[in-house]
Amino acid sequence: MTAAMSGSAPVHAVEAVGLRKQFGEIHAVDGIDLALEPGRIYGLLGPNGSGKTTLIRLLTGLAHATAGEARILGTRMPSRQALGQIGYMPQAEAIYPELSVGENLSFFARLEGHADRSAIDRVLDLVELSGRKGAPALELSGGMRRRLSLACTLVHDPKVLFLDEPTVGVDPALRVQFWTHFRRLAAAGTTILVASHVMDEADRCDELIFVRSGKVIGRGTGAELRANAGTDNLETAFLKLSGLDAEGRPLDGNEAVA
Ligand SMILES: Nc1ncnc2c1ncn2[C@@H]1O[C@H](COP(=O)(O)OP(=O)(O)O)[C@@H](O)[C@H]1O
Ligand SMILES: [Mg+2]
Repeated sequence: MTAAMSGSAPVHAVEAVGLRKQFGEIHAVDGIDLALEPGRIYGLLGPNGSGKTTLIRLLTGLAHATAGEARILGTRMPSRQALGQIGYMPQAEAIYPELSVGENLSFFARLEGHADRSAIDRVLDLVELSGRKGAPALELSGGMRRRLSLACTLVHDPKVLFLDEPTVGVDPALRVQFWTHFRRLAAAGTTILVASHVMDEADRCDELIFVRSGKVIGRGTGAELRANAGTDNLETAFLKLSGLDAEGRPLDGNEAVA
């Protein structure tokens, strides 16, 4: 029996309805509707400036929408209570350089109402920073800071994860580990939205959401998006959905895809 038949509305992990954010003349998010299911990894793909970070900030309730609404697990954002269910790894790290690795983690854990030492040790282990627990964060390399940032995002065991370009500056071996962990979290029911401006990790996602100029221009599995565009190259598929050919030139009017 579907939710509609039983009379109860389905609760999506993440929902956007007519979501808009304007900065002066810039329509950073220009009318986005989304419904994401639990336990899946969604790739939010688009070039720099396409509105990915702004969309994530609206969904997490960190930015106020100009119009429309965002819901996390059925709760309209912003909501202090829903924040406990959300993990957000910002594009620019939000860690405190003068605090140690362990202090950063306990700060984030307490912020979410979790003071559990075992949770801190678990995430430190996960990102392989257990040996650095007492080191000031400012002594960490770029890749280590990304790992700490991920650990801070996961320490309260969130149900919905927003990762804004999480593997930028992360070496290939660690990148594989990050993805192994994302996959494990999704298998345990966590919903993950990963933003990226490059297509090279797209096939690790269950589904892709292409954004351009603040709008969703395509959605589906990598295979579906490739097949629909008649190409085996996702970048070409993205360009085609943008009304451009493989070299970035406008397609003729008849071929442009809305
Ligand atoms: N705080 C802000 N004030 C003014 N313009 C902004 C602000 N944040 C983002 N923008 C603009 O909104 C658009 C989308 O930006 P952003 O969401 O950061 O895109 P992305 O994450 O895809 O690179 C860009 O044109 C950017 O310059
Ligand atoms: Mg961004």
